[in-house]
Amino acid sequence: MTLTNATPFIAGNWKMHKTVAEADELVSQLMAASADMMEAEVVVIPPFTALNKVKNTLCESPIQLGAQNMYWEDQGAYTGEISPPMLVEAGCRYVVIGHSERRQFFGETNETVNKKIKAALYHGLLPILCVGESLEEREKGETMAKVGRQLSEGLEGLTPEQFSQVIIAYEPIWAIGTGLTATPEQAQEVHAFIREKLSENYGNTACSCAIILYGGSVKPANAFSLLKEKDINGALVGGAALKADSFIELVKESIRAYREK
Ligand code: 13P
Repeated sequence: MTLTNATPFIAGNWKMHKTVAEADELVSQLMAASADMMEAEVVVIPPFTALNKVKNTLCESPIQLGAQNMYWEDQGAYTGEISPPMLVEAGCRYVVIGHSERRQFFGETNETVNKKIKAALYHGLLPILCVGESLEEREKGETMAKVGRQLSEGLEGLTPEQFSQVIIAYEPIWAIGTGLTATPEQAQEVHAFIREKLSENYGNTACSCAIILYGGSVKPANAFSLLKEKDINGALVGGAALKADSFIELVKESIRAYREK
């Protein structure tokens, strides 16, 4: 399967929210609005415990399922971890790798991220690789250096064909859960840098099709202006994905932006 950025890609990362019953209720509400979201790739990313139930409810729905993390081994004595085959069995198509919260609170490094990306691809899961700088790094003018390193080390050793199965999410840490969003210009600048940097390794054609998401306080009110930017192909959404109304509105605004691009 070839990924393309011809339509907006909107993924809701529910983080550590929603019991199974709550997850099921939310996804049922989203499914009721599927007809309004047809022009987008819509993905829900619940906690592990809700994956199975959500998949059963989604059934043949065009809404896709993703997971928030995984370990790189297939099985073994790794208490508390979840393997790629387990996610495949649960019906996941996508998996978030290297979210800043994983890096910050759970010690993930570019090296572990790279192992996870390779394991995900090996098992046919499409990884969503998260990159982004802290406020301090931005203020010191180190944004591009940081993001550049996360990309080169996180994607180390991938063939162009493997790279074509990877989605990138630029999530400035200072914009996550803070209500502070990068301006469309700030986000576009980094997205353009990411596309340019990737094209050095994987060629212009692969990179012009690459899906590069923005994440960090995306809401219905700012989705349009962000997605209108040339190199912003979608959003990785936290808080605004937890309620059906705001997530559906956000998807609709993204579709509207794409139509006007
Ligand atoms: P918020 O949308 O809550 O800022 O979270 C963004 C995020 O981290 C998505 O992965």
